[in-house]
Amino acid sequence: MTTKRTGAHAGGRGGAGTHELHTRVKKKAGTIKASSRRWLERHLNDPYVHQSKIDGYRSRAAYKLIEINERYHLLKKGQKIIDLGAAPGGWCQVAANIVGSTNDHPSVVGIDYLHVDPLPGVTMLEMDFLDDTAPQKLMDALGAKPDLVISDMAAPTIGHKQTDHIRTIHLCEVAADFAISVLKPGGHFLAKTFQGGAENELLTTLKQNFKKVYHVKPPASRAESVELYLLAYEFKGKPA
Ligand SMILES: C[S@@+](CC[C@H](N)C(=O)[O-])C[C@H]1O[C@@H](n2cnc3c(N)ncnc32)[C@H](O)[C@@H]1O
Repeated sequence: MTTKRTGAHAGGRGGAGTHELHTRVKKKAGTIKASSRRWLERHLNDPYVHQSKIDGYRSRAAYKLIEINERYHLLKKGQKIIDLGAAPGGWCQVAANIVGSTNDHPSVVGIDYLHVDPLPGVTMLEMDFLDDTAPQKLMDALGAKPDLVISDMAAPTIGHKQTDHIRTIHLCEVAADFAISVLKPGGHFLAKTFQGGAENELLTTLKQNFKKVYHVKPPASRAESVELYLLAYEFKGKPA
């Protein structure tokens, strides 16, 4: 398998003003499946992937948080952040940079059952967020109530659309319960969900506990993806 780049480089972050990338993956018979070739071509031609290498982010997903933050101004210097489903670490990088987290005084804690190589200013827990002990471990590691709980968790897909959907919604619901039990009043909760159904109960809970709830589809989220983010804005605080 060989790759051939014929176009100009990405000049921006994937939006307006970005030059097209045209890398085609040539296949030698039998060496690569058509679906893998399509994925690789899309990856090589993705301006966000290209830009993440230039900017030093570990994931193209970093730009989803950057774009959401540009619109809603969630992240501020000095805040404490919990990042659920953090691997490979793009969101943690963005959060740690903006809040000014350092190794001496880390104020960003991430969790993932996948290993994440160390990141400056980030404490990482390598464990399943659904484990009963995870919430307390996250709070112990952060040492204070978070200003933001952000979750990009997605369940590994098995190809059955409805099952995949339900499993990711479940992660989102558990993340929302956690956020409601630990956030500072005035804090925010941002989580990945999927478009379509099965989230009415979750929306009701969020609307009861936060001043506003937005559905957000940042430009970095591929149009063809059913992925969508729920932003629950300004936690009202727990009733006395
Ligand atoms: C889309 S990736 C996150 C990308 C990340 N925001 C970034 O910018 O690098 C989703 C992550 O959620 C993690 N995940 C899914 N379910 C999880 C769970 N129950 N506990 C911990 N992590 C989980 C996956 O392992 C995966 O690394």
